[in-house]
This record gives sequence, C-alpha cells and structure tokens, in this order.
Amino acid sequence: MATHKTLVSTSILDADLSDLARDSLRALNAGSDRLHLDVMDGHFVPNISFGPAVIKRLRRIGKQPFDAHLMISEPSRYMDQFINAGCDSITFHVEVEEPIEPTLLKIRKAGRQAGLALKPGTPLSALEPYRELIDIVMVMTVEPGFGGQSFMRDAAAKILPAHDLFRDRDSGLPGGQVHVDGGVNRQSAGLCGGFAAEVLVVGSTLWKKGVDIAEEIRLIKALADEGYRNGAGRSKQAIPSRTDRGETA
Ligand code: DX5
Ligand code: ZN
Repeated sequence: MATHKTLVSTSILDADLSDLARDSLRALNAGSDRLHLDVMDGHFVPNISFGPAVIKRLRRIGKQPFDAHLMISEPSRYMDQFINAGCDSITFHVEVEEPIEPTLLKIRKAGRQAGLALKPGTPLSALEPYRELIDIVMVMTVEPGFGGQSFMRDAAAKILPAHDLFRDRDSGLPGGQVHVDGGVNRQSAGLCGGFAAEVLVVGSTLWKKGVDIAEEIRLIKALADEGYRNGAGRSKQAIPSRTDRGETA
C-alpha cells in the first residue's frame, strides 16, 4: 500500500539570525527535510529579513533542498540573484503587481522548481492561469510578514483542492507539491496532513527556548501522517501519494 510521508521544511526566520548557519544545520541534523528561506522587502510585507547574499553563503552547509519564499514586490528584478544563490525552489506571491508568467518560466529554465504562494484571503482560482507553469503551491495560513502568528483554519481549507491544480495538465508534467506555511505546530499538523499537505513549513515552534528540535519535528511529521491516514488518505478521491506518483519520499 502506498504510504504518505509528510515532509518538513524549517523556516529560519525566527532562528538566531546572528548564527544562521549553526541553526540551519541544527534543523537539518534534527530531521528537517528542507530549509525554508523567508525573504521580505519591507514593501510587499511590513518587515525586512534577509536576501540572496545570505542564502548564497548558507548554501554551503549542506545539500538539502533550499526553498526560497519571496515576499517581495518585484521578484522579477531579483530573480537572477536567487537562482545564483543556489535555491532549489523559488516561490513568490501571485498577488504581486507585475507579470508572473515570465518569472515562472525563468525559474524553470534555470532548472529550479517554480512556486506560487497565496495569502490567506486569495482564492485558489488566482492560480488557474499558471497551473502548467508551477511545481509548488504554497498555501499561507497566516498573513505573510512575521513568524509566530496563529494558524488560520479557514485558509487551510485550500490545501486539499490545491492539488487539483496539478491534475490533468496539458504539459503532462507530474504532480507538484503543496506546501502549507504559517502557524504550523503540534496543534495544526494533523489538520494539514488531513488535507494532504506534502510539505509543512515549520518555524517559530522549533526555535522556542528548551525545545528538542528533533523530537518536535518527529512529532509534527507523525501527527501529519496520522491526519493524512484519517483524512484525505481515506477517500478514494484523495490525491495520489508521492509513492503512487512514482516519486520517492
Ligand atoms: C511568514 C513566513 C513563514 C513563517 C513561519 O511570513 O512566510 O514562513 O515565518 O513561521 P511560523 O511557523 O512561526 O508561522
Ligand atoms: Zn514562509
């Protein structure tokens, strides 16, 4: 029987910003499958974080996938720099006020995965024009800008139908991944798994004082997998698991 193994991508936004290499390694050594890099420009969101130069320096810590999440108004302007920094996937927001298609094409042409993120209030239909061009849908379950906010259940309802965007594509490309970002912790992991989220972005809950990061990641994955078995995984209509699609977990 096919198995569904939820992956964790650790957001380092709330890690020790003065020693990101050490904290990134801590997360990866503790079982994080990927690293999630939140880039903010103080314009698209009311906060400023770090940019491509920091990501490029961090790249040397390991081979695990780096997911850039660009909360910036002009992703096209800086795309070469993020590609050059060694990001494996680059996700930007469908709400940006500039042409989206050329930027998605550029990411793919560079051999990276292209993603689009949705703010909580943005409907999935906003992604329809781009369904052939994306490898990742990132459903945000907090308003972008800050770590440590509360999980928005209403926004999480988009996770399951988001998989439909990858079905029956003209391009014949295999299905992509749905990431859920914002407020993911022990309390919300089961719900995300129930909606068949493939990648959980986990941030502040790992960086609280005294937390055993390895144990926390293990628990969050287990809760999400259990949620999947009791939720989407039960329905015959459920999205195919990664193993069904011939991919390895
Ligand atoms: C919010 C960021 C998220 C967030 C994750 O704008 O995109 O990646 O920081 O952190 P938590 O898990 O604290 O919501
Ligand atoms: Zn993020």
